[in-house]
Amino acid sequence: LMVLLVGNDKTVPVSCIYVDEPLLYDTFPPNFVWASATSAHQIEGAWNVDGKGPSIWDTYTSQPGIVAEGATGQTACNSYYFYQKDVDALKSLNVSHYRFSISWPRVLPDGIGRINQPGVDYYKNLIAALKVANIQPMVTLYHWDLPQALEDMGGWLNSSVADWFEEYARLCFTQFGDDVKIWVTLNEPWITAWQGYGLGVSAPAKYGPGTYTYQAGHNLILAHAKVYRLYESSFKPFQQGKVGIALNINWYSPATDLTADADAAERALQFMGGWFANPIFGSGDYPSIMKQKIGEKSALQGFNQSRLPEFTQEQKIFVQGSADFLGINHYTSFLTEDKPSDINDISYEADQDLYAYYDPSWYGSGSPWLKITPFGLRNLLIWLRDRFNDPEMIITENGCSDTAGNLDDMLRIYYFKHYINNVLKAIKNDGVKVTGYTAWSLMDNFEWRAGYNEKFGLFNVNFTSPELPRTAKASASYYAQIIRDNGFRT
Ligand code: NOJ
Repeated sequence: LMVLLVGNDKTVPVSCIYVDEPLLYDTFPPNFVWASATSAHQIEGAWNVDGKGPSIWDTYTSQPGIVAEGATGQTACNSYYFYQKDVDALKSLNVSHYRFSISWPRVLPDGIGRINQPGVDYYKNLIAALKVANIQPMVTLYHWDLPQALEDMGGWLNSSVADWFEEYARLCFTQFGDDVKIWVTLNEPWITAWQGYGLGVSAPAKYGPGTYTYQAGHNLILAHAKVYRLYESSFKPFQQGKVGIALNINWYSPATDLTADADAAERALQFMGGWFANPIFGSGDYPSIMKQKIGEKSALQGFNQSRLPEFTQEQKIFVQGSADFLGINHYTSFLTEDKPSDINDISYEADQDLYAYYDPSWYGSGSPWLKITPFGLRNLLIWLRDRFNDPEMIITENGCSDTAGNLDDMLRIYYFKHYINNVLKAIKNDGVKVTGYTAWSLMDNFEWRAGYNEKFGLFNVNFTSPELPRTAKASASYYAQIIRDNGFRT
Protein backbone atom coordinates (compact mmCIF):
# COMPACT_ATOMS: atom_id res chain seq x y z
CA LEU A 1 0.00 0.00 0.00
CA MET A 2 1.38 3.39 -0.98
CA VAL A 3 1.15 5.97 1.73
CA LEU A 4 1.41 9.73 1.82
CA LEU A 5 2.42 11.61 4.94
CA VAL A 6 -0.01 14.36 5.82
CA GLY A 7 1.09 16.73 8.55
CA ASN A 8 3.39 15.35 11.17
CA ASP A 9 1.70 12.20 12.14
CA LYS A 10 -1.36 11.35 10.09
CA THR A 11 -0.83 8.77 7.39
CA VAL A 12 -3.47 8.20 4.74
CA PRO A 13 -3.54 6.01 1.66
CA VAL A 14 -2.90 7.81 -1.61
CA SER A 15 -6.09 6.36 -3.05
CA CYS A 16 -8.14 8.17 -0.39
CA ILE A 17 -6.46 11.48 -1.03
CA TYR A 18 -7.32 11.35 -4.68
CA VAL A 19 -10.99 10.51 -4.29
CA ASP A 20 -12.79 13.76 -4.91
CA GLU A 21 -15.38 15.52 -7.02
CA PRO A 22 -14.72 15.36 -10.77
CA LEU A 23 -12.67 18.15 -12.31
CA LEU A 24 -14.09 20.71 -14.70
CA TYR A 25 -12.01 20.70 -17.90
CA ASP A 26 -12.16 24.24 -19.19
CA THR A 27 -10.08 27.39 -19.39
CA PHE A 28 -9.92 30.61 -17.39
CA PRO A 29 -10.93 33.90 -18.99
CA PRO A 30 -8.34 35.62 -21.21
CA ASN A 31 -5.87 37.88 -19.36
CA PHE A 32 -6.47 36.01 -16.12
CA VAL A 33 -3.86 37.06 -13.54
CA TRP A 34 -1.66 34.11 -12.52
CA ALA A 35 0.60 34.89 -9.60
CA SER A 36 2.66 33.58 -6.76
CA ALA A 37 3.29 35.45 -3.52
CA THR A 38 5.69 36.22 -0.70
CA SER A 39 5.98 38.98 1.88
CA ALA A 40 8.92 41.15 2.90
CA HIS A 41 9.51 39.95 6.44
CA GLN A 42 9.11 36.31 5.43
CA ILE A 43 11.82 36.35 2.75
CA GLU A 44 14.04 39.45 2.68
CA GLY A 45 16.36 39.03 5.66
CA ALA A 46 18.83 41.96 5.82
CA TRP A 47 16.77 43.12 8.78
CA ASN A 48 19.25 45.74 9.99
CA VAL A 49 21.37 46.69 7.00
CA ASP A 50 21.49 49.70 4.67
CA GLY A 51 19.47 51.88 7.02
CA LYS A 52 16.40 49.69 7.51
CA GLY A 53 14.54 50.43 10.75
CA PRO A 54 13.24 47.65 13.01
CA SER A 55 9.71 46.36 12.53
CA ILE A 56 7.41 44.97 15.20
CA TRP A 57 8.32 41.47 13.97
CA ASP A 58 12.03 42.15 14.45
CA THR A 59 11.23 43.17 18.01
CA TYR A 60 8.83 40.31 18.64
CA THR A 61 11.15 37.55 17.41
CA SER A 62 14.08 38.89 19.41
CA GLN A 63 12.28 37.80 22.60
CA PRO A 64 13.18 34.21 23.49
CA GLY A 65 10.55 31.48 23.62
CA ILE A 66 8.05 33.11 21.25
CA VAL A 67 8.75 31.66 17.84
CA ALA A 68 9.38 27.96 17.20
CA GLU A 69 13.05 27.07 17.76
CA GLY A 70 13.98 30.72 18.25
CA ALA A 71 13.66 31.30 14.51
CA THR A 72 13.68 34.86 13.17
CA GLY A 73 13.36 36.65 9.85
CA GLN A 74 16.85 38.11 10.21
CA THR A 75 18.14 36.14 7.22
CA ALA A 76 15.13 34.17 5.91
CA CYS A 77 15.58 33.57 2.15
CA ASN A 78 17.92 36.57 1.98
CA SER A 79 15.92 37.96 -0.92
CA TYR A 80 17.34 41.42 -0.23
CA TYR A 81 20.48 40.03 -1.88
CA PHE A 82 19.11 37.03 -3.80
CA TYR A 83 16.02 38.58 -5.45
CA GLN A 84 17.28 37.54 -8.89
CA LYS A 85 16.91 33.90 -7.79
CA ASP A 86 13.27 34.68 -6.93
CA VAL A 87 12.69 36.25 -10.32
CA ASP A 88 14.26 33.23 -12.03
CA ALA A 89 11.96 30.92 -10.08
CA LEU A 90 8.94 33.05 -11.00
CA LYS A 91 9.97 33.00 -14.63
CA SER A 92 9.94 29.20 -14.67
CA LEU A 93 6.38 29.23 -13.30
CA ASN A 94 5.07 31.28 -16.26
CA VAL A 95 3.27 33.62 -13.86
CA SER A 96 2.00 36.94 -15.16
CA HIS A 97 2.35 38.61 -11.73
CA TYR A 98 4.46 38.43 -8.58
CA ARG A 99 2.75 39.46 -5.35
CA PHE A 100 5.36 40.76 -2.89
CA SER A 101 5.22 43.32 -0.11
CA ILE A 102 7.21 46.44 0.64
CA SER A 103 8.77 46.61 4.07
CA TRP A 104 7.55 49.91 5.50
CA PRO A 105 10.56 50.32 7.84
CA ARG A 106 12.97 49.57 4.97
CA VAL A 107 11.80 52.64 3.06
CA LEU A 108 10.80 54.77 6.06
CA PRO A 109 12.93 53.60 9.01
CA ASP A 110 10.92 55.67 11.51
CA GLY A 111 7.60 54.97 9.81
CA ILE A 112 7.23 58.63 8.81
CA GLY A 113 9.67 61.36 7.84
CA ARG A 114 13.13 60.32 6.74
CA ILE A 115 13.30 58.25 3.51
CA ASN A 116 15.88 55.44 3.30
CA GLN A 117 17.12 55.58 -0.28
CA PRO A 118 18.84 52.14 -0.33
CA GLY A 119 15.50 50.62 0.68
CA VAL A 120 13.71 52.40 -2.16
CA ASP A 121 16.47 51.27 -4.54
CA TYR A 122 16.01 47.64 -3.50
CA TYR A 123 12.38 47.63 -4.66
CA LYS A 124 13.30 49.56 -7.82
CA ASN A 125 15.85 46.87 -8.63
CA LEU A 126 13.38 44.08 -7.94
CA ILE A 127 10.75 45.71 -10.14
CA ALA A 128 13.34 46.24 -12.90
CA ALA A 129 14.35 42.57 -12.74
CA LEU A 130 10.69 41.55 -12.95
CA LYS A 131 10.26 43.78 -15.98
CA VAL A 132 13.12 42.02 -17.76
CA ALA A 133 11.36 38.72 -17.01
CA ASN A 134 8.06 40.15 -18.26
CA ILE A 135 6.35 39.74 -14.86
CA GLN A 136 4.05 42.42 -13.44
CA PRO A 137 4.29 43.40 -9.77
CA MET A 138 1.26 43.08 -7.48
CA VAL A 139 2.37 44.98 -4.41
CA THR A 140 1.15 44.76 -0.84
CA LEU A 141 1.81 47.88 1.19
CA TYR A 142 1.32 46.35 4.62
CA HIS A 143 2.09 42.70 5.33
CA TRP A 144 2.39 42.93 9.14
CA ASP A 145 5.82 44.53 9.56
CA LEU A 146 4.86 47.86 11.15
CA PRO A 147 7.82 50.13 11.90
CA GLN A 148 8.60 49.71 15.61
CA ALA A 149 8.80 53.50 15.88
CA LEU A 150 5.07 53.69 15.05
CA GLU A 151 4.16 50.91 17.45
CA ASP A 152 5.94 52.95 20.11
CA MET A 153 3.28 55.60 19.42
CA GLY A 154 0.41 53.11 19.75
CA GLY A 155 0.55 51.42 16.36
CA TRP A 156 -2.81 50.39 14.91
CA LEU A 157 -4.55 51.51 18.12
CA ASN A 158 -3.65 55.15 17.43
CA SER A 159 -6.11 56.74 15.02
CA SER A 160 -3.22 58.80 13.56
CA VAL A 161 -2.09 55.57 11.90
CA ALA A 162 -4.27 56.49 8.90
CA ASP A 163 -2.10 59.58 8.32
CA TRP A 164 1.11 57.61 8.79
CA PHE A 165 -0.08 54.95 6.36
CA GLU A 166 -1.07 57.62 3.86
CA GLU A 167 2.41 59.18 3.98
CA TYR A 168 4.01 55.79 3.39
CA ALA A 169 1.59 54.93 0.58
CA ARG A 170 2.22 58.28 -1.11
CA LEU A 171 5.93 57.49 -1.16
CA CYS A 172 5.27 54.06 -2.68
CA PHE A 173 2.83 55.34 -5.31
CA THR A 174 5.28 58.11 -6.23
CA GLN A 175 8.34 55.86 -6.41
CA PHE A 176 6.88 52.67 -7.87
CA GLY A 177 3.46 53.54 -9.25
CA ASP A 178 4.55 53.86 -12.87
CA ASP A 179 5.29 50.13 -12.85
CA VAL A 180 2.77 48.77 -10.33
CA LYS A 181 -0.79 48.41 -11.59
CA ILE A 182 -2.20 46.24 -8.79
CA TRP A 183 -1.88 47.45 -5.20
CA VAL A 184 -3.03 45.70 -2.05
CA THR A 185 -3.29 48.08 0.91
CA LEU A 186 -3.52 45.68 3.86
CA ASN A 187 -2.83 41.99 4.11
CA GLU A 188 -5.28 40.22 6.42
CA PRO A 189 -6.36 43.03 8.76
CA TRP A 190 -8.28 40.36 10.72
CA ILE A 191 -4.93 38.85 11.75
CA THR A 192 -3.51 42.21 12.79
CA ALA A 193 -6.61 42.98 14.83
CA TRP A 194 -7.15 39.58 16.48
CA GLN A 195 -3.66 38.16 16.78
CA GLY A 196 -1.64 41.38 17.06
CA TYR A 197 -3.96 43.44 19.28
CA GLY A 198 -6.57 40.97 20.58
CA LEU A 199 -5.18 37.64 21.63
CA GLY A 200 -1.64 39.00 21.67
CA VAL A 201 -0.19 36.00 19.89
CA SER A 202 1.50 37.88 17.03
CA ALA A 203 3.52 41.08 16.90
CA PRO A 204 3.06 43.53 18.57
CA ALA A 205 1.39 41.13 21.06
CA LYS A 206 -0.96 43.58 22.73
CA TYR A 207 -3.68 41.85 24.76
CA GLY A 208 -7.25 43.12 24.51
CA PRO A 209 -9.56 40.53 22.99
CA GLY A 210 -12.81 42.03 21.79
CA THR A 211 -11.69 45.55 22.79
CA TYR A 212 -8.33 46.44 21.23
CA THR A 213 -9.34 43.99 18.51
CA TYR A 214 -12.18 46.14 17.21
CA GLN A 215 -10.33 49.43 17.76
CA ALA A 216 -7.45 48.17 15.65
CA GLY A 217 -9.92 46.88 13.06
CA HIS A 218 -11.59 50.29 12.89
CA ASN A 219 -8.28 52.10 12.37
CA LEU A 220 -7.21 49.53 9.77
CA ILE A 221 -10.37 50.17 7.74
CA LEU A 222 -10.02 53.95 7.93
CA ALA A 223 -6.32 53.74 7.00
CA HIS A 224 -7.15 51.51 4.05
CA ALA A 225 -9.83 53.92 2.85
CA LYS A 226 -7.53 56.92 3.20
CA VAL A 227 -4.93 55.27 0.98
CA TYR A 228 -7.55 54.24 -1.55
CA ARG A 229 -8.85 57.83 -1.74
CA LEU A 230 -5.29 59.14 -2.07
CA TYR A 231 -4.66 56.87 -5.05
CA GLU A 232 -8.04 57.61 -6.56
CA SER A 233 -7.60 61.38 -6.50
CA SER A 234 -3.86 61.85 -7.03
CA PHE A 235 -2.41 58.81 -8.80
CA LYS A 236 -5.09 56.81 -10.57
CA PRO A 237 -5.77 59.48 -13.21
CA PHE A 238 -2.32 58.95 -14.73
CA GLN A 239 -1.03 55.66 -13.26
CA GLN A 240 -4.30 53.85 -14.00
CA GLY A 241 -3.87 50.96 -11.58
CA LYS A 242 -6.24 49.23 -9.18
CA VAL A 243 -6.21 49.23 -5.38
CA GLY A 244 -7.73 46.49 -3.25
CA ILE A 245 -7.43 44.84 0.15
CA ALA A 246 -6.61 41.20 0.98
CA LEU A 247 -8.95 39.62 3.51
CA ASN A 248 -8.38 36.22 5.09
CA ILE A 249 -11.68 34.38 5.06
CA ASN A 250 -12.31 30.75 5.94
CA TRP A 251 -15.39 28.91 4.75
CA TYR A 252 -17.91 27.94 7.45
CA SER A 253 -20.47 25.19 6.77
CA PRO A 254 -23.36 24.57 9.15
CA ALA A 255 -22.68 21.40 11.15
CA THR A 256 -26.32 20.21 10.87
CA ASP A 257 -29.54 21.04 9.02
CA LEU A 258 -30.74 23.15 11.95
CA THR A 259 -31.51 26.78 11.13
CA ALA A 260 -29.61 27.82 14.25
CA ASP A 261 -26.43 26.24 12.87
CA ALA A 262 -26.95 27.84 9.44
CA ASP A 263 -27.28 31.18 11.22
CA ALA A 264 -24.11 30.43 13.17
CA ALA A 265 -22.19 29.72 9.94
CA GLU A 266 -23.45 32.99 8.48
CA ARG A 267 -22.32 34.82 11.64
CA ALA A 268 -18.88 33.26 11.43
CA LEU A 269 -18.52 34.47 7.84
CA GLN A 270 -19.78 37.94 8.71
CA PHE A 271 -17.48 38.31 11.73
CA MET A 272 -14.48 37.21 9.68
CA GLY A 273 -15.13 38.55 6.17
CA GLY A 274 -18.06 40.93 6.59
CA TRP A 275 -16.25 42.87 9.32
CA PHE A 276 -14.04 44.43 6.61
CA ALA A 277 -15.96 43.65 3.43
CA ASN A 278 -19.29 45.14 4.48
CA PRO A 279 -17.91 48.63 5.20
CA ILE A 280 -15.84 48.62 2.00
CA PHE A 281 -17.96 46.65 -0.50
CA GLY A 282 -21.38 46.63 1.17
CA SER A 283 -23.38 49.19 3.13
CA GLY A 284 -20.44 51.28 4.33
CA ASP A 285 -20.95 50.01 7.87
CA TYR A 286 -20.23 46.91 9.95
CA PRO A 287 -22.54 43.91 9.38
CA SER A 288 -25.72 44.36 11.40
CA ILE A 289 -25.19 41.01 13.15
CA MET A 290 -21.83 42.26 14.49
CA LYS A 291 -23.32 45.52 15.70
CA GLN A 292 -26.17 43.65 17.37
CA LYS A 293 -24.16 40.89 19.08
CA ILE A 294 -21.26 43.07 20.25
CA GLY A 295 -23.62 45.85 21.32
CA GLU A 296 -25.81 43.53 23.42
CA LYS A 297 -22.86 41.82 25.02
CA SER A 298 -21.04 45.07 25.75
CA ALA A 299 -24.08 46.37 27.62
CA LEU A 300 -24.38 43.20 29.70
CA GLN A 301 -20.65 43.35 30.39
CA GLY A 302 -20.97 46.85 31.83
CA PHE A 303 -19.33 48.84 29.02
CA ASN A 304 -21.04 52.19 28.56
CA GLN A 305 -20.82 51.83 24.80
CA SER A 306 -20.34 49.03 22.34
CA ARG A 307 -16.85 47.58 22.10
CA LEU A 308 -17.34 47.83 18.33
CA PRO A 309 -16.58 51.44 17.36
CA GLU A 310 -19.07 53.38 15.24
CA PHE A 311 -18.40 55.04 11.92
CA THR A 312 -19.62 58.61 11.51
CA GLN A 313 -21.86 59.30 8.53
CA GLU A 314 -18.94 60.99 6.80
CA GLN A 315 -16.66 58.00 7.43
CA LYS A 316 -19.23 55.58 6.02
CA ILE A 317 -19.31 57.51 2.77
CA PHE A 318 -15.51 57.68 2.73
CA VAL A 319 -15.12 53.92 3.32
CA GLN A 320 -17.93 52.62 1.12
CA GLY A 321 -16.62 51.74 -2.33
CA SER A 322 -12.98 52.24 -1.33
CA ALA A 323 -11.61 49.31 -3.35
CA ASP A 324 -11.38 48.27 -6.99
CA PHE A 325 -11.22 44.58 -6.13
CA LEU A 326 -11.58 42.26 -3.20
CA GLY A 327 -8.46 40.20 -2.50
CA ILE A 328 -9.11 36.86 -0.85
CA ASN A 329 -6.61 34.86 1.15
CA HIS A 330 -8.24 31.50 1.58
CA TYR A 331 -6.93 28.19 2.92
CA THR A 332 -9.45 26.15 4.90
CA SER A 333 -13.00 25.49 6.19
CA PHE A 334 -14.85 24.79 9.43
CA LEU A 335 -18.09 23.20 10.56
CA THR A 336 -20.18 25.56 12.66
CA GLU A 337 -22.65 25.08 15.52
CA ASP A 338 -24.75 27.61 17.33
CA LYS A 339 -23.51 27.90 20.92
CA PRO A 340 -24.46 30.77 23.22
CA SER A 341 -21.34 31.88 25.10
CA ASP A 342 -20.92 32.81 28.72
CA ILE A 343 -21.28 36.56 29.06
CA ASN A 344 -17.85 36.86 30.70
CA ASP A 345 -16.19 34.93 27.91
CA ILE A 346 -13.85 37.17 25.93
CA SER A 347 -12.19 34.44 23.87
CA TYR A 348 -12.13 34.68 20.11
CA GLU A 349 -15.52 33.18 19.20
CA ALA A 350 -17.44 34.48 22.23
CA ASP A 351 -19.00 37.51 20.54
CA GLN A 352 -20.29 35.23 17.78
CA ASP A 353 -22.08 32.67 20.00
CA LEU A 354 -20.83 29.68 18.07
CA TYR A 355 -18.46 26.77 18.05
CA ALA A 356 -16.41 26.06 14.92
CA TYR A 357 -14.38 22.90 14.36
CA TYR A 358 -12.86 20.68 11.70
CA ASP A 359 -14.57 17.58 10.39
CA PRO A 360 -12.26 14.75 11.49
CA SER A 361 -12.43 13.22 8.01
CA TRP A 362 -10.73 16.25 6.42
CA TYR A 363 -7.08 15.74 5.56
CA GLY A 364 -4.50 17.77 7.37
CA SER A 365 -1.38 19.61 6.22
CA GLY A 366 1.82 20.81 7.84
CA SER A 367 -0.18 23.47 9.71
CA PRO A 368 -2.60 22.50 12.49
CA TRP A 369 -5.12 25.12 11.31
CA LEU A 370 -5.12 24.07 7.65
CA LYS A 371 -7.42 21.22 6.61
CA ILE A 372 -7.86 20.42 2.94
CA THR A 373 -11.38 21.38 1.86
CA PRO A 374 -11.42 22.48 -1.79
CA PHE A 375 -15.23 22.93 -1.86
CA GLY A 376 -14.90 25.78 0.64
CA LEU A 377 -13.30 28.17 -1.83
CA ARG A 378 -16.11 27.88 -4.36
CA ASN A 379 -18.74 28.30 -1.64
CA LEU A 380 -16.92 31.32 -0.28
CA LEU A 381 -16.71 33.02 -3.68
CA ILE A 382 -20.45 32.57 -4.18
CA TRP A 383 -21.17 33.86 -0.68
CA LEU A 384 -19.01 36.96 -1.26
CA ARG A 385 -20.64 37.64 -4.62
CA ASP A 386 -24.10 37.47 -3.05
CA ARG A 387 -23.34 39.56 0.03
CA PHE A 388 -21.10 42.29 -1.36
CA ASN A 389 -22.51 43.35 -4.71
CA ASP A 390 -20.69 41.01 -7.03
CA PRO A 391 -17.25 42.58 -6.62
CA GLU A 392 -14.24 41.88 -8.78
CA MET A 393 -12.22 39.35 -6.80
CA ILE A 394 -8.60 38.24 -6.96
CA ILE A 395 -7.44 35.24 -4.97
CA THR A 396 -4.44 36.92 -3.35
CA GLU A 397 -3.35 33.77 -1.46
CA ASN A 398 -4.15 30.08 -1.51
CA GLY A 399 -1.81 27.22 -0.72
CA CYS A 400 -0.83 24.32 1.46
CA SER A 401 1.98 23.51 3.87
CA ASP A 402 3.91 20.42 4.77
CA THR A 403 6.72 19.99 7.23
CA ALA A 404 9.09 18.06 5.00
CA GLY A 405 9.74 20.50 2.18
CA ASN A 406 10.19 17.46 -0.09
CA LEU A 407 10.41 17.91 -3.84
CA ASP A 408 7.83 15.21 -4.65
CA ASP A 409 5.07 17.19 -2.95
CA MET A 410 2.01 15.23 -4.07
CA LEU A 411 -0.17 16.72 -1.35
CA ARG A 412 0.44 20.27 -2.64
CA ILE A 413 -0.34 19.18 -6.20
CA TYR A 414 -3.59 17.68 -4.96
CA TYR A 415 -4.39 20.89 -3.09
CA PHE A 416 -3.70 23.23 -6.00
CA LYS A 417 -5.48 21.00 -8.50
CA HIS A 418 -8.72 20.92 -6.58
CA TYR A 419 -8.73 24.45 -5.16
CA ILE A 420 -7.92 26.01 -8.54
CA ASN A 421 -10.54 23.81 -10.18
CA ASN A 422 -13.10 25.12 -7.70
CA VAL A 423 -12.17 28.66 -8.70
CA LEU A 424 -12.77 27.65 -12.31
CA LYS A 425 -16.17 26.20 -11.42
CA ALA A 426 -17.08 29.39 -9.56
CA ILE A 427 -16.25 31.40 -12.68
CA LYS A 428 -17.75 29.11 -15.30
CA ASN A 429 -20.73 27.58 -13.49
CA ASP A 430 -21.62 30.28 -10.98
CA GLY A 431 -20.60 33.43 -12.85
CA VAL A 432 -18.43 34.77 -10.05
CA LYS A 433 -16.09 37.60 -11.10
CA VAL A 434 -12.65 36.25 -10.25
CA THR A 435 -9.88 37.86 -12.28
CA GLY A 436 -6.78 36.34 -10.71
CA TYR A 437 -5.27 33.57 -8.64
CA THR A 438 -2.16 33.68 -6.45
CA ALA A 439 -0.36 30.64 -5.09
CA TRP A 440 1.10 30.99 -1.60
CA SER A 441 4.01 30.74 -1.62
CA LEU A 442 6.75 31.09 -4.18
CA MET A 443 9.17 29.39 -1.78
CA ASP A 444 9.57 28.00 1.72
CA ASN A 445 10.01 30.93 4.07
CA PHE A 446 9.61 32.35 7.57
CA GLU A 447 6.11 31.23 8.54
CA TRP A 448 5.72 33.71 11.44
CA ARG A 449 5.33 32.01 14.81
CA ALA A 450 5.80 28.60 13.21
CA GLY A 451 9.29 29.62 12.12
CA TYR A 452 10.63 27.53 9.24
CA ASN A 453 8.75 24.34 10.14
CA GLU A 454 5.61 24.90 8.09
CA LYS A 455 6.66 25.02 4.45
CA PHE A 456 4.31 26.46 1.83
CA GLY A 457 6.74 26.81 -1.08
CA LEU A 458 6.42 25.81 -4.70
CA PHE A 459 10.20 26.01 -4.41
CA ASN A 460 12.22 24.40 -1.68
CA VAL A 461 14.85 26.62 -0.03
CA ASN A 462 17.90 24.93 1.43
CA PHE A 463 18.29 26.99 4.60
CA THR A 464 21.49 25.24 5.62
CA SER A 465 23.39 26.49 2.57
CA PRO A 466 24.54 30.14 2.69
CA GLU A 467 23.52 30.53 -0.96
CA LEU A 468 19.95 29.55 -0.01
CA PRO A 469 19.31 27.76 -3.32
CA ARG A 470 15.70 27.58 -4.52
CA THR A 471 14.75 24.22 -6.06
CA ALA A 472 11.47 23.57 -7.87
CA LYS A 473 9.15 21.05 -6.25
CA ALA A 474 6.83 18.89 -8.36
CA SER A 475 4.01 21.35 -7.57
CA ALA A 476 5.97 24.13 -9.33
CA SER A 477 5.87 22.20 -12.63
CA TYR A 478 2.26 21.35 -12.02
CA TYR A 479 1.31 25.00 -11.43
CA ALA A 480 3.37 26.09 -14.46
CA GLN A 481 1.38 23.63 -16.57
CA ILE A 482 -1.97 24.98 -15.38
CA ILE A 483 -0.78 28.49 -16.23
CA ARG A 484 0.50 27.38 -19.66
CA ASP A 485 -2.89 25.81 -20.39
CA ASN A 486 -4.75 28.69 -18.71
CA GLY A 487 -6.81 26.00 -17.03
CA PHE A 488 -7.41 22.27 -17.17
CA ARG A 489 -7.03 20.11 -20.25
CA THR A 490 -8.14 16.51 -20.48
C1 NOJ B 1 -1.39 34.24 5.48
C2 NOJ B 1 -0.34 35.28 5.37
O1 NOJ B 1 -0.69 36.39 4.62
C3 NOJ B 1 1.01 34.74 5.00
O2 NOJ B 1 1.96 35.65 5.44
C4 NOJ B 1 1.19 33.37 5.59
O3 NOJ B 1 2.49 32.88 5.41
C5 NOJ B 1 0.20 32.44 4.93
N1 NOJ B 1 -1.14 32.94 5.06
C6 NOJ B 1 0.25 31.00 5.44
O4 NOJ B 1 -0.05 30.97 6.78
